[in-house]
Amino acid sequence: MEIISGKELAASLKQKMMAEVATFPQRYGRVPQLTVILIGNDPGSVSYVAGKAKASEEVGIDNKTIRLSDKTTEDELLALIYQLNNDDSVDGILVQLPLPKAINSDKIIAAISREKDVDGFHPLNVAALWQKQPCILPCTPKGIIKMLKSKNIEIAGKNAVVVGRSNIVGLPVSKLLLNENATVTVCHSRTPNLKEVCLRADILVVAIGRPRQITGDMVKEGAVVIDVGVNRDPETGKLCGDCDFASCAEKAAFITPVPGGVGPMTICCLMENTIECFLNKMCDLSC
Ligand code: GUN
Repeated sequence: MEIISGKELAASLKQKMMAEVATFPQRYGRVPQLTVILIGNDPGSVSYVAGKAKASEEVGIDNKTIRLSDKTTEDELLALIYQLNNDDSVDGILVQLPLPKAINSDKIIAAISREKDVDGFHPLNVAALWQKQPCILPCTPKGIIKMLKSKNIEIAGKNAVVVGRSNIVGLPVSKLLLNENATVTVCHSRTPNLKEVCLRADILVVAIGRPRQITGDMVKEGAVVIDVGVNRDPETGKLCGDCDFASCAEKAAFITPVPGGVGPMTICCLMENTIECFLNKMCDLSC
């Protein structure tokens, strides 16, 4: 069994990005700028946003985090987004999810300028992904494919099973696996015989947000297990994935750990997407 360290892969990719970004002031007059909006004090979100700021600093991307009260209204948030859309010094806008219940997330995501949508969540970016047109790819799915490729894991012709059908991970990663010519099955809470379906997986991607749901008896011998979950273990309070690492690792040929697996790759791809949005703008200005 081999562990796929997202932490190590992300560190080496960030080194390369740092070298690239260092050339930007001379070439373009400035570095990329990412603005992150965080509403409220959810500990998970606060920690994710801090990770994004730290990675930006490492790579040399200018990061601004705007923290707003959980009483912020939808109209106030929309007004801020319109202001950032029209600000030429801002290349990427990320609104940390989930948002308070009083705010309609779909409306917020659609309000972000497509060109600054570093999450790849805007309906036009989602449509482009499903039509195989150039687009900003969602960070977690993009990071997962990079992890598989970093280990030369064959995707074409393999059975990929994705557990979870969210807009952020399950659906887009299914499409990226399909683009790589895997045969893809998407499972969810209403899937009967989840264990039997998982046992057919050569590549098993788990994104359900519940601790240790997938156990070793659900994993085929020699499978690749990608664990997207970040949960608090209800007993120990420590971080754990959606997979039971110890028992899954006994069966898997490759497995991602939590922490240090998919999470750092998500942040790394956010850096990449911010650079991509910046370069698209610079090209538009000079072409
Ligand atoms: N919350 C959990 N994951 C994500 C993500 O990838 N982007 C945003 N904006 N919020 C999230």
